[in-house]
Amino acid sequence: MALPKDHWAHVDAASLPHLVSEIIPGPKSEDLNRRGMAHMIGYSSQVKLFPVAFERGHGVTLTDVDGNTYIDFSSGIYVTTLGHCHPKVSEAVARAAHTLMNCHDFNTPVKVELLEKLAEIQPWDLTGMQLYDSGTTAVEAGLRVCRAATGRHEFISCYMDFHGKSGHAVSLGRMNESNGPGRSQGFYLVPRPDPYRPMFTTADGAIDTDAYLSFYADYIDVATTGQVAAFVLEPVQGWAGSIFPPDDFFPKLRAFCDERGILLMADEVLTSMGRTGTYFCMEHWGVAPDVVTVGKGFGNGFPVTAMLVSEKHKEAIERISASTSYGGNPMACAAALASIEAMEEEGLLEHALELGEVMLARMREIKAAHPIVGDVRGRGCLLGIELVKDRATKEPFEEAGRAVYRRAFEKGVAWVPAWHILRMSPPIVMTEEVALKGLDIIEEAIDEVEGEMC
Ligand SMILES: Cc1ncc(COP(=O)(O)O)c(C=O)c1O
Repeated sequence: MALPKDHWAHVDAASLPHLVSEIIPGPKSEDLNRRGMAHMIGYSSQVKLFPVAFERGHGVTLTDVDGNTYIDFSSGIYVTTLGHCHPKVSEAVARAAHTLMNCHDFNTPVKVELLEKLAEIQPWDLTGMQLYDSGTTAVEAGLRVCRAATGRHEFISCYMDFHGKSGHAVSLGRMNESNGPGRSQGFYLVPRPDPYRPMFTTADGAIDTDAYLSFYADYIDVATTGQVAAFVLEPVQGWAGSIFPPDDFFPKLRAFCDERGILLMADEVLTSMGRTGTYFCMEHWGVAPDVVTVGKGFGNGFPVTAMLVSEKHKEAIERISASTSYGGNPMACAAALASIEAMEEEGLLEHALELGEVMLARMREIKAAHPIVGDVRGRGCLLGIELVKDRATKEPFEEAGRAVYRRAFEKGVAWVPAWHILRMSPPIVMTEEVALKGLDIIEEAIDEVEGEMC
């Protein structure tokens, strides 16, 4: 569904990007970064690789402090799904800020409306809820609920998954030197099917989902104490580079878990609320999880997240001391409720799906024209381009990943790096014209870097 010309986020593609500085990042960005970085330590690679400082955002554009306007292919970091400063969301937050900012976890009209709206849009029986202020906190609560519901304590998650940066959340993901003594006890990682880099294949080279599942069965047998509470997974691995599983993976994993009394927890912090063209990404495979976490685009930039638990297990929430200082505050609830209503009113789920198809078709053309592009993938507005040194060996091309990220940013596309994988998460209010303009710029950057490095 094309967005109408009078849509609030409409912008003429021909006017973008609008770059005015001689060198980008410009002098004001440089000055602000010097001052900010004198104190704040530990910026993400997104910032370190391209230290620009932003002043404002409107819809699908970001403007830096030097007056350069970029096409936004990042939505912050998968957060401003409905575009920057959606009027309905901003007004709802402002209204709440002038009415009541916090009353701990007492009910308020807006909170109850949000809970009822969430119950209405979730397609399964996830009727037990708790609200939080970060994805990590929601994930931690989800783990505690799985333990309380099953009386078991172990967790299985997957290579390259990302679930946050607290003690247990990091134990669900890839370890590195920043994780001190390492994984907490009772946390185990297994490979999951990556269609571009499969570990188990059939004789004819197709991805062999059954082989993954039989590996899981053996692994649980030998590595765990048999007390696995839940499989915890991202439906699509976002941080790892927009990696979509094959369509038979989640239905088979659901059956696998059911046979063993293991819960299925879908961490939808990144993938939910329109990002892939549905409220919940698991809807694509018709698989109902027992526990779901929601975040990022949920409040379109306002820090609000949620944990949803199935009817069968929701009483377990009572046993985890679930409430927090900020969870469910009126401003957060207003932001989330207005975001869902805006998605409904503007038909944005359908638009996200269609936009994703248009973008993927263009990305396939880019792949056909450029040998360093090993794979392109995506659904809705969650997309990725994987760069390789050699299509036969699939050796990751990290230097090219960094160079293409920077080059495209200099040319006016704000986006997200991940080693040799370039991640794209445009706001779902982007028009095809603007999205294609952004992809033209990305192709130009790939072309130049390929010319220089190959
Ligand atoms: C799948 C997933 N889970 C959890 C988190 C943690 O969310 P937050 O940064 O809001 O704590 C993230 C953040 O990127 C994520 O992608």
